[in-house]
Amino acid sequence: MITGATRLAGVIGDPVRHSLSPVIHNAAFADLGLDWVYVALPVAAGGGAAAAEAMRTLGIDGLSVTMPHKGDVAVAADELSTAAAALGVANCLQRVTGPDAGDRTGDRIVGHSTDGDGFVWAFEHRFGVPPEGLSFLVAGAGGAARSIVEALGRAGAAGIAVTNRSPERAVPVAALAPCARVGEATVDEVAAADVVVNTTSVGMAGGPDPDGCPIPIAGLRTGHRVVDIVYQPRRTPLLVAAEAVGAATDNGVAMLVGQAALAFELWTGVDAPIEVMTAAVEAADR
Ligand code: ATR
Repeated sequence: MITGATRLAGVIGDPVRHSLSPVIHNAAFADLGLDWVYVALPVAAGGGAAAAEAMRTLGIDGLSVTMPHKGDVAVAADELSTAAAALGVANCLQRVTGPDAGDRTGDRIVGHSTDGDGFVWAFEHRFGVPPEGLSFLVAGAGGAARSIVEALGRAGAAGIAVTNRSPERAVPVAALAPCARVGEATVDEVAAADVVVNTTSVGMAGGPDPDGCPIPIAGLRTGHRVVDIVYQPRRTPLLVAAEAVGAATDNGVAMLVGQAALAFELWTGVDAPIEVMTAAVEAADR
């Protein structure tokens, strides 16, 4: 039941009504009996900084941030996590209460980027090993690729080859981790990696090339770990091809849950109920 004491979190973006985040977080609050509620807040382009400030004004404890506000809120935040500072974007805002809890003007708004660490969490959860010492091929050069490359660098990956249709866009992505370089999606490059990751929209339902595969499948082999961060469909053409050669695979559900779980823990200080959050995604998104 929502009471006078209920604490508020939400997601800002445009569009945002399709977001799975309310379902994920409200399922977690309910499971743990936390008196919190999470809502979708449509905020038009240009409103990100005002929304961050509204956390102080209204006492909002946490905001997830999606398109087109991730850059604006990173500028507006009072401080940034390591990842958010490196990337120049935040997908999660946390209100940290100041010395006088009754006067929220002293509260600090902290910007985090939980996508990359959510990917690393999901990788460890699915495959049972950390990224440390492994070589990765990451296809794509958008915001998701940036988050993942930066986090893999911090997690001790041995090497990261960043490949992209437009190779020049891969250059600033590779600069986010000392172990990363611009690569080419050749059969040899794919075969040489321990882990292959798709961050492009190729293979995504409703995307530019739903039947396509972002890397040459001839390079896939048994022993590969293959992750597609797409979750619609659950089995993209890349994952189908990887399974056919006996590679271990994972789709984007775990990263979606992982980034949400990290935000949840930042806001509430409580361990996130991962299985409940995953079940909420599966029930809501068929
Ligand atoms: P996000 O921020 O969500 O990670 P984005 O910035 O929209 O994504 O980037 C989409 C990625 O998918 C890019 O790497 C894009 O390649 P380009 O940089 O060359 O545009 C890639 N992509 C989209 N459609 C593609 C296609 N048909 N073939 C290959 N790559 C494609």
